[in-house]
Amino acid sequence: MLSEEEVPAKLPETGKIWFNGRFIDWKDAKVHVLSHGLHYGTGVFEGIRCYATEKGSFIFRLKEHIDRLFRSARLYGMHIPYTKDEICNAIKETVRINGLDACYIRPIVFYGYHHLGVIPYGCPVECVIAAWKWGAYLGEESLQKGIRCTFSSWQRFHPNTVPAVAKACGHYLNSLLAAMEARQKGFDEAIMLDCKGYVAEGPGENIFIVRDGRLLTPGFDSAILPGITRNTVIELARDMGIHVEERTLTKSEVLSADEAFFTGTAAEITPIREIDSVVIGKGEVGEITREIQRKFFDVVSAKESAYMKWLEPV
Ligand SMILES: Cc1ncc(COP(=O)(O)O)c(C=O)c1O
Repeated sequence: MLSEEEVPAKLPETGKIWFNGRFIDWKDAKVHVLSHGLHYGTGVFEGIRCYATEKGSFIFRLKEHIDRLFRSARLYGMHIPYTKDEICNAIKETVRINGLDACYIRPIVFYGYHHLGVIPYGCPVECVIAAWKWGAYLGEESLQKGIRCTFSSWQRFHPNTVPAVAKACGHYLNSLLAAMEARQKGFDEAIMLDCKGYVAEGPGENIFIVRDGRLLTPGFDSAILPGITRNTVIELARDMGIHVEERTLTKSEVLSADEAFFTGTAAEITPIREIDSVVIGKGEVGEITREIQRKFFDVVSAKESAYMKWLEPV
């Protein structure tokens, strides 16, 4: 059980939610209890951030998030009854109509109510977009000082069990077990190994380590989610002249790394300072991690003209 101080605040009620093509009040955005998605986790979703900058509000890598949403749906044979452009426009409209600047955006597409066989034949595809204000996922301090992690006893799923590259609702049962176990053991977050025993990712984050000035991160043979922040960091680091390798990583390489950090839309660039009581590097935010973190926040704050291509004006 979480202690009382650990229970996060309820999501702030935020005006309107886009529900199957029209805006309805936050409190009226309800579905039937026999919806297929509720019973079998048959949905796909995205987590997207919108940043407030001196040049206005921008959604970070909207196109890439929507491409992944459609790819996730396709892997589960789900047809989204809107075009990518329609979903992108609906997302921007959701931010605008709610008067939000910096916010987190959650599009979700799931099978609704029709019948409850495992195969969702005949079930409608429900599309929802919500947005609300949301700060640092693991707390503001985590970005500055880094977090303490533990290797989970729960493995990331084998690539032949479910398509790991899909961001699908049911997959998060695996994430939940790892994250909950970590919290119960007194750590901030979990690191999961894949079924071969190599390092995979966090419950909602990709992982990077720094070794001799090089950046290393698990490749797609480790059944990871193709993180958009991961891809951003790889491109930024290469442009900064840092060598990046995508390859299998062992637990001991991570424990003996000079630096380590998580990436994710929610986690942004979160340094890791300790794993299972082993201090990583000097036990503080490493130099390269800090440089990448600074670059990332400059990019999302519209301070880097070369990367304005990733910022979609609201
Ligand atoms: C399991 C998992 N891995 C990695 C990530 C990071 O992906 P992104 O950077 O696209 O948010 C997420 C979050 O979406 C996730 O849930």
